[in-house]
Formats: sequence, structure tokens, C-alpha cells
Amino acid sequence: MSAIESVLQERRIFPPSAKASAGAAISGMDAYKALTSEAERDYEGFWARLARETLSWHKPFETVLDESNPPFYKWFEDGEINASYNCIDRHVEAGNGAKNAIIFEADDGTVVNVTYQDLLQRVCRFANALKKRGVKKGDRVVIYMPMSIEGVVAMQACARIGATHSVVFGGFSSKSLNERLVDVGAVALITADEQMRGGKALPLKSIADEAIAAGGCEAVKSVIVYKRTGGKTQWHEGRDLWMHELVEHEAAQGADSCEPEWVSAEHPLFILYTSGSTGKPKGVQHSTGGFLLWAAQTMKWTFDAKPDDVFWCTADIGWITGHSYIAYGPTAIGATQVVFEGVPTYPHAGRFWDMIAKHKVTIFYTAPTAIRSLIKAAEADAKIHPKSFDLSSLRILGTVGEPINPEAWMWYHENVGGGVCPIVDTWWQTETGGHMITPLPGATPLVPGSCTLPLPGIMAAVVDETGQDVPNGQGGILVIKRPWPSALRTVWGDPGRYKKSYFPEELGGALYLAGDGAVRDKETGYFTIMGRIDDVLNVSGHRLGTMEIESALVSNPIVAEAAVVGRPDDTTGEAVVAFVVLKRSRPEGEEGKRIANELRAWVAKEIGPIAKPKDIRFGDNLPKTRSGKIMRRLLRSLAKGEAITQDVSTLENPAILDQLGEVR
Ligand code: WT7
Repeated sequence: MSAIESVLQERRIFPPSAKASAGAAISGMDAYKALTSEAERDYEGFWARLARETLSWHKPFETVLDESNPPFYKWFEDGEINASYNCIDRHVEAGNGAKNAIIFEADDGTVVNVTYQDLLQRVCRFANALKKRGVKKGDRVVIYMPMSIEGVVAMQACARIGATHSVVFGGFSSKSLNERLVDVGAVALITADEQMRGGKALPLKSIADEAIAAGGCEAVKSVIVYKRTGGKTQWHEGRDLWMHELVEHEAAQGADSCEPEWVSAEHPLFILYTSGSTGKPKGVQHSTGGFLLWAAQTMKWTFDAKPDDVFWCTADIGWITGHSYIAYGPTAIGATQVVFEGVPTYPHAGRFWDMIAKHKVTIFYTAPTAIRSLIKAAEADAKIHPKSFDLSSLRILGTVGEPINPEAWMWYHENVGGGVCPIVDTWWQTETGGHMITPLPGATPLVPGSCTLPLPGIMAAVVDETGQDVPNGQGGILVIKRPWPSALRTVWGDPGRYKKSYFPEELGGALYLAGDGAVRDKETGYFTIMGRIDDVLNVSGHRLGTMEIESALVSNPIVAEAAVVGRPDDTTGEAVVAFVVLKRSRPEGEEGKRIANELRAWVAKEIGPIAKPKDIRFGDNLPKTRSGKIMRRLLRSLAKGEAITQDVSTLENPAILDQLGEVR
């Protein structure tokens, strides 16, 4: 049964408990409605109020929203602000310097606590070091680092001096890193010698060296290396620098403070690359003020975070979730958070539950894929079952990145949440900067598998291909009708692509197109996400463009043609299936297996291991219409192992369908 079918069959409703509502930031549906109607009555006034209450401004803004050049919207533009000041200094100034900002747990279980005071010192020293290397406001700095205190420090230090960071996930290949370094025009790269995951040391610096050697990034003057393992690395004198040496040098000079660079609220805080349906990944550009406002506000609304909470988001800083809900959101509100270096299955698949118990985590935020894989492990071994750990500290649970099937939701609710913790199923995207549609833990009656209702101020709707609203109960295209502060501002270096991808003329040019299908429930108006409507796959909550994987495959000299589709997968949500035509004859038996493995390794090298096809099928040809168009719908059926019910009379060679059905 597909996730969507089961979602539609799930009718149980879980109202918020009195405990969850008591003292919650939004304590019931009346409070929710009061906020949504405030936003409807006075849209700009609503956002201005939040921005004034939630953030500390160096110079207050006067204009709220500038819509003079749609869809290039600007928020709070004449206001001056610094993200790092808001995330660190103001908590120290308020007397909370001794509070833990980060409880870091390494892969091997070592724990390091970092107070807000410590964080301030680390960020200032490193910010000063970056300035000495000539990094200045507006420069782009690429961060290719493991999950670490140093990774957060690097992001905050860039923000402090007004440099725009672009974090590249540590699992991406040298080729992907090179493309991003070139596209963003980086002047510096911050990396680590190696990263530790699941007891294994994986290289980062040598991949970074390869990425730079591949050319086009002559602007990169400094490669700053965090020493994580002390593993062997090649050294390029004059270019490469140890992070700890730079920081020690600043410390020796007493350079423990660094005046924040006050920037316009519209100044680009970061650029984060994400896959689209066409072409190369897009550099999604986010602002400083609007982004930070929503990262902080959603910590309060969606997670109901309070000063005593211990928040843990298991994402990686290489993804948007790690930007909004590790580097910026928790720190912006002065929370204590757990930052984890490792993987959920090492040294055993009870690691998450063990860490929740150990650090008394109160708010836990993870991906459905992780839950699904841990269910399997827990049900097979009582020792690592969540019930074997004291999870009584937990108050609120969250999920992100992909639809959660009701079975996994129920398991999470009962076994991790003890049947009492609300689950916030947060729908959002790299482009939206923060949560858009999500339950509120103290207000929203929950329906497993539904992300329920938009946050106050977010004008989400379901429309048809012409941009007209469809009635509840009817599926359609998910859009956001009005600009909101944390929306992407543009695609770095390609404003035309921004306009075309997100505000298509077909929908009238004014609606933000999310790229997902959705349906609203007839009675409740609740949203259920039905997955991407474009050629974007979601594998373990990671976004992959089918075209990117196809280009990677055809760049292999033995490949003539390739088509990639997604297939539903019990654990990863979707899996990559590649249909490949070789330049030589179709391989059979063992040889087919060998070549399939070679191609998997090739894709890992071209993009990163996350993009490796699960299945590779070889054919003498691909199913095409007479005009030469690949029949993707047929391929999707083949990938699922379904019987072909479509009309195949237009196919040149129907026999290839049998070939392509064979799994390697
Ligand atoms: C795509 C965005 C959200 C930050 C991490 C992923 C899918 C995201 C949900 C959810 C169903 C979801 C959508 C969306 N998605 N959250 N709660 N329920 N689908 O960010 O890599 O930009 O991917 O993830 O398809 O468009 P991303």
C-alpha cells in the first residue's frame, strides 16, 4: 500500500492534551485563529510585530514589505541587523552566558558542552581570523564540514562578518563540491581533515583538494582545516591553514571580541544548493532578517520551545534543516541543543533513545526514514527498543523531510512519545527557510500522516494547473499565495530561473509554486502532501533531481542513454531506479551485476553516495514514443514491478519492456 493510500484511510484524531496546551506559545485553536486573522487583517503589521518582538535590531526597520518588483520581494530592508549578534551576544548580555548553547556528542560518545559565553568567544576569534585572511562582507565562504561545534562556529563567524556561507553536505563528491565552489565564487573553503561516522573515518580534506584541483575556483585563497582526527592530509603551503592555529593566534593576541557587521535585513545570510527538476542544483539564496525571524518564531510556535528545553534536531548542517533548526533557530531563541556527530545505528540502533535519555532531551526532531529504519531494528532486538530507555523527558516530537506513513507515526507516538507527546509533522522546503504547514503542539488535533494547517501568516492553498483554487477533497498543486519573510530571495546568479521555477506564468506569475501535490480534507481543511509533481525524488528526505543522476550516468563513457525514476521504498520513502542503455550490447548475468556496481560507484563519485541507484536495469533501448520521448510513466510502472496496463501500441520495440523488468 502506498503512503498516500494509507494516509487517506487514517481517520483517528489525537487532540492536544491539557498538558501540551498549558502554557504553550499557541495554546489552542482559538489562539491559532486569533493569529491567522491578525495576519489576514493586517499582513504587514502582523509580520512587523513579530520581527520587532522576536529579533534585536541595530537599526529598526521602517518599511516592512517591498513588493515593487515582484517576485523579488524584500522584507525589513532598511533595518540593520546581525544574525550572530541575535544568536549569541544578546543572550550573554541578558545574563545567560553560562547557559549551555550546545551539548555536543561525538561519534564515539564523548560529550563537550559549549555555553553561550564560550560560543561567543569561539565565534569572535574565528571571525577575526577570517577577516585577517581577507574575508569580508559579501564574500562567499563554502563550508564542507562534519557535524561539529566547529561547523556551527564557522557558520556563525561568517554571519558575524557579513560573509555569505554556502554549506555543502559532507557526503557530496569532489565534483559536486567543485560545481558549488565555482558557481558561488567562493573566496575561502572551511573543511576538516576527516569526519567520523559510525566508527569510520572518512576523508574530507582530500576530497576538498580534489574539488579545488578540478579547476574554476581560483578565487579560493584560503582552505581552513578543522583537525578532527589528525589523519594524514596533503598540505598546500600558503593556502591551507589549521583552524585551531588561527584561533590560538587570535587568543594569544586577546582578540576575543569582534564587532558584528551590521547588515541590511536583506543581506544574503547564506546560499544553499538544492536539486531541481532541470539542470544543475540551484543556489537558493536566503536573507538575514526574514530568515532569522522565521527560524526563531517557528522554534517558539512549532516546537513550543521554552528556556528549560533541551532541543535535538538530528539533521546535518549540510541541509536546510540544519541551518534553520541547528545553526540559527535554537541559538536565536537562546535554547540548549544537542548536536550529534554520528549516525543513528552506531554503536547500535538504540543510539537516539540512549542519547535522549542521557541528555534529557525534551524536543526531538528527526526524519521519517530514520524512524522507519529504527522500527525494524527495535522490533528485532528488545535491548535497543525505545521502551528499554527512559524517555520520560520528552515533551514534543517532530518529523521533517518526507511524508510519514501512519504506521510509523503510530509507532513513534506510542514507543518514543509514550502515547502523550504531540508529533509535529512539519512540511517545508529549502526554499521556504522554515516551517510552513505544521501542527502546533498545544493547539492542533493531530491526524497521522497529515501536516494539518499552515502557520499563521502563511497563505497556503491547493490550486489547479491554471492557478484556480480547487475545492477541499480534490487533489491539486500546493502554492503559497503571498510572499513571506523567510522565502528564498533568488537563485544565486540566475534570477530568471528563480522566476520561472517558483512563480510560473501558467499559474499567473504571482503564486509561489512549491513543487508538491496536495489535498485538503473535506471536513477539517487539513493538508496532506502527496509528493513532488516534478522530476525530483525524495530519498531518505534528501532531494535528488532525476536529470542530475541521468547526466551523471551518461557522462560514463560506456553509457549511451539513461533514464531515472523513483520507486516507493519501505525505508527510504523513495528509491532511485536507473534504466540504462550501454554503448555495447546489453550485459547479461554476472557481467550485468558487475557493470551495475561500477555504475553505482560512478554515480557516488559524480554526485555522492546518496544518489546511488538502488536498481539498475539494462535494455537494448528505452521505451519511447514515435517522436522519441521517453515514456517515464511506463518506466515508473516497471520500476515498481507492476504489470503494464498502459497502451504500448506506440512503442517501437515492446520486447524491451521484458528486458527492463529484470533487476540487477
Ligand atoms: C521537499 C523539500 C523540509 C526541510 C528538509 C527537506 C518534502 C518536506 C515534508 C512533510 C511531506 C515533505 C516535499 C518538499 N517534504 N517535508 N512533512 N511531508 N513531504 O527540504 O530538501 O528542500 O525538500 O521535501 O516534497 O517539497 P528539501
